[in-house]
Amino acid sequence: MNNLSNQNNKRILILGASGKIGNTLYHSIKKHYYTVGTYFNNQRKELIKFDINKNSLFKLIKKKSISHVILCQGIVNFDQISKDPKKAEDTNLKSLIKQLKEIKDNNSINVIFFSSESIFDGNVGNYTEESSPNPIFSYGNQKLVIENFIKSNFQNHLILRLSKVYDSEINEQKSLIVNWFNLLKNSQKVEVAIDNFITPIHKNDLMEFITRLITKDAQGTYNISSDDNMSRSNFFEIFYEKYCLYFNTKSLIEKKQLNIISKKNANIPKKTSLDNRKVKQFTGHTPKSFSHYCDIFFSNLIANDKK
Ligand SMILES: NC(=O)c1ccc[n+]([C@@H]2O[C@H](COP(=O)([O-])OP(=O)(O)OC[C@H]3O[C@@H](n4cnc5c(N)ncnc54)[C@H](OP(=O)(O)O)[C@@H]3O)[C@@H](O)[C@H]2O)c1
Repeated sequence: MNNLSNQNNKRILILGASGKIGNTLYHSIKKHYYTVGTYFNNQRKELIKFDINKNSLFKLIKKKSISHVILCQGIVNFDQISKDPKKAEDTNLKSLIKQLKEIKDNNSINVIFFSSESIFDGNVGNYTEESSPNPIFSYGNQKLVIENFIKSNFQNHLILRLSKVYDSEINEQKSLIVNWFNLLKNSQKVEVAIDNFITPIHKNDLMEFITRLITKDAQGTYNISSDDNMSRSNFFEIFYEKYCLYFNTKSLIEKKQLNIISKKNANIPKKTSLDNRKVKQFTGHTPKSFSHYCDIFFSNLIANDKK
């Protein structure tokens, strides 16, 4: 990250700093700014315990003289949301609104909110920042209500609409690449959707975009996605071709429609690809391709095996 003069007055609080995105963000941001991070159930070194349903964001901001609060906490897993929708609604919406109401009179606070591609109905895809949101399930709806609340109540705000985030680290069990690798390696069935169009963003590119946006004091709404716009089954084909260069599998590979694969979550939007021209232009960063990150994954794996 360049251009750090005048930046050291930023004092950043990351809610959800123990999460998949929050933790990487915490370690990346704290290299440059005074940073406080919170956890909820998964205690991590340096982080403070914070429950959005019980503790006071207002008091934490005051105690640590925070200038920027990054909201990347919440119940994100779709299965968890459908198992306990009330808990998800309380955590993702009601408690967050209550907390935001308590800090909205602080005119100097910058609110950075992690929203999602899920605010769109997925009928068209390639959504720009100007496209009309129309959520078709609770998680998307919660994101949109919070977005609108922040836009109406905080002069200084940054809303980041994220596509699906993935990683190429071997130990990131829940990530797209590692999940497929483990299924193939254990010869388990792989089901991929032919009608779910996405623009997944690698964690490294996500961090690059966010740190540049914060450094340049970006305001408003930005889509955060890659340039790869394909169906999940096309992404899988790229990965599978590379997998077959190194390994064998007896996995059954089934290409199906999304609503057949995710029976429990029938209402998941299908075409959720995001147009990323605005963020690329503002930050000057171009994300690398899915194919590139698959190559990194396999070269790291092979190098580790040789050790
Ligand atoms: N991952 C994606 O592909 C993606 C895509 C679009 C948008 N997003 C958004 O990006 C943000 C981060 O996602 P993620 O994938 O990093 O999620 P994650 O790994 O599930 O992390 C969620 C974080 O929220 C914390 N949390 C849960 N309940 C809480 C509560 N009651 N009070 C305070 N904190 C609580 C968790 O703490 P503990 O772990 O300590 O319990 C964890 O730090 C979310 O807002 C998500 O909606 C993610």
